[in-house]
Amino acid sequence: MPLHGEYVRGTFDLSADQVAAFEAQDGRGETGFNPAGAPIVVLTSVGARSGKLRKSALIRVEHDGTYAVVASLGGAPQNPAWYFNLTANPHVELQDGARKHDYRARQVDGDEYQRWWDRAIEIWPDYVEYQTKTDRKMPIFVLERLSRKVQITRYGGPDVLEVVEATRPEPAAGQVLVEVVVASLNPAEVGIREGAFATIWPADFPQGMGHDFAGVVAAAGPGVTGFAVGDEVVGYAQRGSMADFAVVDAGSVGPKLAGLGFAPAAVVPAAGATAWATVAAVDPAPGETVFVSAASGGVGVLAGQLARLAGARVIGATSAANMPRLEALGIEPVRYGPGLESRLRAMTPDGLDAVIDTFGGGYVELALALGVPAKRINTITDYAAVHRYGVQGRGNGDALSPDIWSELQALIASGRLVVPIEAEYPLEDIARAYLDVATRHGFGKRAVRLRPDPIA
Ligand SMILES: NC(=O)c1ccc[n+]([C@@H]2O[C@H](COP(=O)([O-])OP(=O)(O)OC[C@H]3O[C@@H](n4cnc5c(N)ncnc54)[C@H](OP(=O)(O)O)[C@@H]3O)[C@@H](O)[C@H]2O)c1
Repeated sequence: MPLHGEYVRGTFDLSADQVAAFEAQDGRGETGFNPAGAPIVVLTSVGARSGKLRKSALIRVEHDGTYAVVASLGGAPQNPAWYFNLTANPHVELQDGARKHDYRARQVDGDEYQRWWDRAIEIWPDYVEYQTKTDRKMPIFVLERLSRKVQITRYGGPDVLEVVEATRPEPAAGQVLVEVVVASLNPAEVGIREGAFATIWPADFPQGMGHDFAGVVAAAGPGVTGFAVGDEVVGYAQRGSMADFAVVDAGSVGPKLAGLGFAPAAVVPAAGATAWATVAAVDPAPGETVFVSAASGGVGVLAGQLARLAGARVIGATSAANMPRLEALGIEPVRYGPGLESRLRAMTPDGLDAVIDTFGGGYVELALALGVPAKRINTITDYAAVHRYGVQGRGNGDALSPDIWSELQALIASGRLVVPIEAEYPLEDIARAYLDVATRHGFGKRAVRLRPDPIA
């Protein structure tokens, strides 16, 4: 959670001016260095006594995304004021260039002190001289990045969703740590939170939330090949993409297409892959007519377009409000609700060839009543119908493949597949985001944005 409070400019003008110049220019050019040419960062801490925000320009000591700050005060006998701030409230903000994030400060000693001291004096050798001037051992704080994450500690309504902060997780062997840029929201996550899947996928509380995402590799665990820090990726997390950092098995991560926005890329591994699988299941031939049941939904809107790209005529059920938007994507809209069967019969005198059900609640029965063979019907939600009628039930699990994700991203980048994003939410609005998803209305996808798209 960002620090809140009134900023009070320091009394030492030179330092306060340095902070102001750095912030005004995001540390570009000369503002990123002290007068002697050493790189600097700006540390914001909470005043130990005043509770107001204080800022200090300090030498930049960084290693693998972790920073250290040395409480030298030029070798003065006393510690700098910010030392007391960090001791009283370890939650700080650090700006390095244009990047500004929250960190937890931890005073180090022993071998850890020595490692950071060696790094610090390499960048600013004057620390050695400062140390000779004072009897106090100049304290060093390591600043570890804080990671916000959504978690639940019990099943229930939106009120069980909490945003908590912890230090950045570490990837284990075979895992990749991803700094999430956008995480997509899926209706199944509402059911997971409510405990609807508790017997088949029991939660291990505290439990993270969210699956598909687009982000940037922050670290790779032992044994991981093919991913490097800074790579843009998409992937599928086992409940945990709603976080600044997600730990994901390397096999569930694939490349993100350069230049593609992170929001459309984030929906590819779940909704995109599901749409791909459901269209592959019914395998439409050019000239055939395909009906999609919830054609304005996150999966339906993509499945309809993919069936069109296969050369089919596509009819999609939707509310009146979304009809023009579907039409603009080349899908013939038909209003769902009472009378749908007769409206469909009137639109398809030669009948339907295939049906993609993304809503459930009777669409499979409607397809069968319209004479569509069971093997040309695929549902991603009505598993009772799969057992009862022998229709297909292919979905996300049949297309969890980085190759398919790449194929879909190429279609999106070329403009042939459009990903409508109904809304983006900040992480703090997660309860509202899932309430909106639970309405089961809207056009396309909803997503959580953790940070702006990185500039290429
Ligand atoms: N098996 C799998 O692998 C898999 C993967 C992903 C999703 N799913 C499941 O598939 C379903 C669809 O997912 P999704 O992400 O596409 O859902 P979604 O985006 O939440 O779907 C909402 C859409 O449903 C439409 N809708 C509402 N009432 C309707 C009705 N009576 N008839 C037809 N459409 C109606 C809404 O249209 P209007 O706004 O126009 O009213 C809205 O666009 C969910 O149950 C989800 O859990 C399964």
